Order: sequence, then structure tokens, then C-alpha cells
Amino acid sequence: MRSRVDASRGLAPRALRPSFPEGFLWGAATSAYQIEGSVDADGRGESIWDRFCREPGRIRDGGTGATACDHYRRYREDVARMAELGLKAYRFSVAWPRVFPTGTGPVNPRGLDFYRRLVDALRARAIEPVVTLYHWDLPQALQDRGGWARRDTAARFAEFAATVARALGDGVRYWITLNEPWVVAFVGHLFGEHAPGIRSWAVALAVAHHQLLAHGLAVRALRAEGGGRFQVGITLDQVAVRPATQDEADAAAAGRFDGWRNRWFLDPVLRGRYPADLWPLLAPLWRPAGLVRPGDLDVARARIDFLGVNYYSPAVVRHAPGRPPLEAEVLSPRGPVTAMGWAIDPGGLAQVLLRVHHEYGPLPIMVTENGAAFPDRWDGEPVVDDPQRVAYLDGHVRAVADAIARGVDVRGYFVWSLLDNFEWARGYGPRFGLFYVDYPSQRRVPKASALWYREVIARNGPDASVPSPGGQAEPGRAPRRPSGPPA
Ligand code: FCB
Repeated sequence: MRSRVDASRGLAPRALRPSFPEGFLWGAATSAYQIEGSVDADGRGESIWDRFCREPGRIRDGGTGATACDHYRRYREDVARMAELGLKAYRFSVAWPRVFPTGTGPVNPRGLDFYRRLVDALRARAIEPVVTLYHWDLPQALQDRGGWARRDTAARFAEFAATVARALGDGVRYWITLNEPWVVAFVGHLFGEHAPGIRSWAVALAVAHHQLLAHGLAVRALRAEGGGRFQVGITLDQVAVRPATQDEADAAAAGRFDGWRNRWFLDPVLRGRYPADLWPLLAPLWRPAGLVRPGDLDVARARIDFLGVNYYSPAVVRHAPGRPPLEAEVLSPRGPVTAMGWAIDPGGLAQVLLRVHHEYGPLPIMVTENGAAFPDRWDGEPVVDDPQRVAYLDGHVRAVADAIARGVDVRGYFVWSLLDNFEWARGYGPRFGLFYVDYPSQRRVPKASALWYREVIARNGPDASVPSPGGQAEPGRAPRRPSGPPA
């Protein structure tokens, strides 16, 4: 088990000036369902989110992705905006139902053509495409056959990965198999807040397992298509977990929460096993005997070239007796929060980067999402003022610099998001974009954060002579974890 002391041993002193390596990938991220719209265009099939959004009460404002940012038709304009910012990279996802309208053969070539045009447009502007293969829009036809709870979906995903790699491989070097499989498993199948809206530990844990398998099979498929040319990774959302007090019981609860929230995917992907401390707690909730087959975790541990980390906020956890299976509770944030109600804490980003580096690495990392929603308003001016987002991003970019100065191999940073967009169950209320989207006119208006980001990119880092508007990032702290997996 590693303690906080281990994690900080032999660290370089903190950066006096935020500094980033040459060739650092400054990017912005989006996902297909959240921005594309045109859900019936060019032979696209139905996705689980199309279906879910039609169910009354699922989406806070009743919104759907039917139009979203109309990016499917306006992608050229959006790529031009990326070029204005000087983006080095753009992370987007491929909608599986555009490529396989019914989840499995036959391929819909018109769906692939859209992404070919997008990749060409990016390449023409010297913007590196970073492709996510699964950002939550499963073909409904596959859901009808059991979705991620069914083992066969993993094989279908590998087939999809190979097809996309064949079509786009000439122009795309960076590949991400899955986005946030934890959210897919537990928000979609335990809390029922995301598509497909199921509430069951047994289903959620099966979904987690089949995604791990899908990831490993897709890595193999990508390697088979791209050989050594491809850089392949997976994006895991990481929460900076902190115990509410120094009390042993709170520390143990934080360790269990971390095990479920972070290590349930980190350990299989990077060590080829489930966390030993969590297994006895969670295994009784499903029937892993039939589902976890010999060799599955070797597949899940397929060698990756980088780990994608999405970070938004920390979680302060206390012991909550009588709340099985974890007996842990996340406290409501006490400091400043975003419009999502998420605590603002740049030190948490350094913490999760250091944690992955020390406990699972060293390995190349990309921060594939980081950003914040605030209640932006546009009154017709050329720029939307968003000082809180500038402060949030500046603080987090400095936290990345801090982690780099401490030896973490961070290769890129992607703001979530390029554009305001469809924020899943929260609909169009939360605005995360560097560009404000006026949905009725589909006009994009730069926010001050976009102009700030342009400067950061041009300078390859935030202005060292100016103090961070959000305050200096706290040095990362490794979570105290009394009950880690055996070494
Ligand atoms: C992440 C998702 C992304 C977006 C942000 C706010 O969990 O990957 O699609 O919704 O949160």
C-alpha cells in the first residue's frame, strides 16, 4: 500500500513558473451526441440517448440531442473557430449508430464519410484529431439485445473500432476506446440517471466488466489496423478523494469510495485485476462467476500508450455506517462550486495525476477533459464575459504544470468543452463551452475564456508573470488509503 509519504518521496520542487513541454497538445473536447444533431441524417440509426430523451422526465429541461449545436452541418465553421484559437488538438467522438445503424453489419458509409470530412478539415488546419470511439451513444438495436450487460456487445464494439480505424486511420493517430466507463456503468445502470436508465448493482457491475473487455478487444483491433502508428488509450474519470477527517473510520470509508470510484477501472486496465479490497464488498452484488471468464482481465490489461484522465472535482468522504455496500458518504461541497454544484479545487487535478503516476505509472497521461459550467449570459456583445471559467481553467492548467514539475508525464490538456452543448440529463442549462452557443440562431460567440485559452496556447502555458486569477494551485495530495490492493 502506498501512503501519502510514498507518493511525495523524491519529488522535484514545485514549478516556480508553469512550464509545459514542447509539442504539448492543447485541445478542446466534445462528443457526438452532445453537439452533432442531425440524428436522422445520412442513414444514422437510433441511439440509446435518442430513446432516453423521449421518455418523459428523464432530461431536466425536456431537451434532446436532435439539433444540439447543429455541428453535423456546421463542422467547417466550428473547425475554423478551433483554428482561430490555435488549438493543437481536437477530441471528438464517433457516433456508433452513424457507422452501424443497427449496431452490427452492414456498415453505413455515409456515416463514416462525415468523420472523414471532419478529419480532413482538421488536418487542413494542422489540428491533431483525437478520436473517442464510445462516448455513450450505444445503438438502440444493441440495447434491445441487452446492451452492455451482454457480453457480445464487447465483440460488437471491437468490430466498430476496427471499422472506424480502417476508415480514418490515415488521418488519425490518437485513439481513445471508451469515455468514462464508470459513468456508463453506474450513472446509466445503477442510478438510472443516464441512458438506458437502469437501476441495479448486478447490471451495473456486469456493464463495467463488459466495457473492460470491450476496451481490451478494441485496443487489439486498433493495433491490428494501425500497427505502431496509433497511440491508443482509454479515458477514465478520476475523482480526488479525501477523507472528511483524520479519523481512521473516515479514512477507511474514503479508501473504499476511491476503490469503487477510481480503482474499479484503473486496476483492471493497468494491473489486470479488480481491487482486492473492494472485491469482497461488490462481488456478492452480482454473479461474477459466470461473467468474469478466465483471461478477461488479461484482455482488459492490453498495453496502452497513454491514459486519458477526466477531472472536474474532488469528493470529501465520511464513514456512513448502515449504508451498504460501501458505508461511505460524499459530503456536500463547502467551498466554491460550479453551476453543476461541483466543488472547485485545482489541487485535486494535481492529486489525481500524481496518484496515477506514482501508483500505476510512470505512464503518459492526457487530461482529456477539464472545465466548468457557469451561468453565462449573452447580451449581444462580441465576447461573453466569463471570469469564473477563466479562473477555473487557469488554476487547473497551473495544477497540470505543477504535476509536470513533479515528474508526471502529461502530454496534453483538453478543455471541456469547445462549445456549450447538451449536458445529458441536465439538458441545455449548464454551459461548459469556450464558445457560447445561442441555440435559436446557432450563433457561436467567443467567451473571454476562449481568448484567454488562445493566449495560453500561443505561449505554451499561462502567463508566469501574472498570478492565477483563481489562486495558485495547491500541491497535490495523495489520498490516504488504508486498505489498498496488495502490492
Ligand atoms: C463528463 C462527460 C462529458 C461532459 C462533462 C461535463 O463526465 O464525459 O460528456 O458531460 O462530464
